[in-house]
Formats: sequence, structure tokens, C-alpha cells
Amino acid sequence: MRVVGTVAELREWSRGVRQAGGAVGLVPTMGALHEGHLSLVREAERRGDRVAVSVFVNPTQFGPGEDFERYPRTFEADCAMLEREGVEVVFAPGVGEMYPAGAAATFVEVAGLSDRLDGASRPGHFRGVATVVTKLFAASEPERAYFGQKDAAQVAVLRRMVADLLLPVDLVVCPIVREADGLAMSSRNRYLSAEERGRALALSRAVRAGEAAFRAGERGAERVADAARRELESAPGVRVDYVAVVDWATLEPVERVEAGCLLAVAAWVGQTRLLDNAILG
Ligand code: PAJ
Repeated sequence: MRVVGTVAELREWSRGVRQAGGAVGLVPTMGALHEGHLSLVREAERRGDRVAVSVFVNPTQFGPGEDFERYPRTFEADCAMLEREGVEVVFAPGVGEMYPAGAAATFVEVAGLSDRLDGASRPGHFRGVATVVTKLFAASEPERAYFGQKDAAQVAVLRRMVADLLLPVDLVVCPIVREADGLAMSSRNRYLSAEERGRALALSRAVRAGEAAFRAGERGAERVADAARRELESAPGVRVDYVAVVDWATLEPVERVEAGCLLAVAAWVGQTRLLDNAILG
């Protein structure tokens, strides 16, 4: 496994893969890797891609006062995990490599979608995500790029970006990987104290409650959302950020729930903001 820090090295590797008749699969991450990230790597390998994983804590997707500085950085452990998975290249650029002019003047903004769900709570977040993912695509020229349904709004933003900009890359979306007790895996779970770790189970309970309401025949979006919200509101130490039932493509609220709609929740457990979701039906 090679660890490269420059765009030039990554691009050279990617072009070599294509010249040899292979396909590049890119797995973008911010490191602090867990089984959720590894599931993306395994899916890329299952499809026969030659895999590059990027590890870059992207400053432009964090707002002022958010956790950019204290975001977990565990690069050595990350590399050990990726080596075991048979990853070919780890791209770990410094901030100066990704933002060579310092403060960038050019951004990718997916209008509308970027202001919904997490974008409403974290202004500028999806602009930072769309911008850095565009740069990672430019640097690695992948045939496919792998993302987790865990960040369902991010998936909607990136799908729209790829469609609008005619980017020559297929997005592959992989299911949410959970701990045995249901908690969706997240790099930010490391922030939780033992007590908060227990409280955080309210998110997966909320999603299951919404799914159960839908399965029982409920089609009113507000009532499906209420079933989820009740779980969060009755949990001590949990503060709801949003509970939403939306069209997964547009992130617009729906009135009547149909199969394929996204039930998404975000909540604060202490100082930590966590996400969970399900595609209904
Ligand atoms: P990060 O939070 O490190 O996540 C990297 C990828 O792993 C994302 O596509 C995310 O959805 C996926 N992932 C995280 N937890 C998962 C889980 N429990 N199950 C399945 N997939 C999971 O998302 C980002 O980084 C950044 O915004 C990035 C796209 C890298 C741009 O900076």
C-alpha cells in the first residue's frame, strides 16, 4: 500500500490503473476509520475496482465553533486497517495541497439541497463537502466513488452535483453499518462518554419507530416523523436537531410517505451531534 500526499502522485497512479485496463474506485473519508468506512472499501473491491482511500479532514465543511480542531485523527491506525483490506493507495494531503491558493475563491454549491437537513443546521457545510469531493474527483479521476447512506443528505447533494456537472463518475451508495446494539457507526461516536453512548441509542430507536409506523400502514409524513420524534424527546440528555421525512432526491418534505422516502434524524447527545436514517419501504 502506498501513502501519497500530492495530487500529482495520485493522478499518476490513477492514470496507470486505467492504462492497465483497470478501474479506479475512490473512497473519500476524513479518517478515524471504522467498519462503516471499511464496508465502502469492501464494496469497491467486490466490484473489482482498484481502490484509493482519501483521508482528509476538510476544513471548509466545518463551521466556526464546530469540531474541526478536535476531530479524531488516527492516521497510523487508519493505514493499518486499510493495508489489511488490500487498499492500493491512501491519499493523505495536507490542507495546502487541497487548497493551494489558501482561502479558495471557487466553490461548488448545490443550490437548494445544500440548505436542507444538515445544511440547515450547518450553514456552508454542504458547500464544503461538494467542493472537496469535486477536488478529490479531479485529483483521482475515479470510475466509481463510494459513499455511505449514513450521511443520506450528503448523498443527495453529491448525486445532484454529479448530474448537474456531468461528472464522469458513478456514485455507489452503501448501507449503514451499525454496532451490535443498533448505534450507527460514526467517527464522532468516540466523543461519547459511557453514559452518552447509552443515550445515543435513542437515534436508532427513533428510526426504527418511524419505520414501524410506516410498516403498520401509516402514510402521513408528520405522523411517521412524530413516531420517531417521540423516541428522541423521551430520551434524557438528547436534544433533537431535526426529524424529517423527505424525498431522498430533493430533500424536500413530503406529505404522504411513499416507498423510497428518507426518514432522517439528527440529535445532540451532550456536545456531540449524531445522525441516523432509513429509506422507508
Ligand atoms: P466521513 O464522515 O469520514 O465518512 C466517509 C464515508 O463513510 C461517507 O460516505 C460516510 O457516509 C461513510 N460512512 C460513515 N459512517 C458509516 C456507516 N456507519 N455505515 C456506512 N457508511 C458510513 O463523509 C465524510 O467523511 C466527508 O463529508 C467526505 C465525503 C469525506 C468529504 O470530506
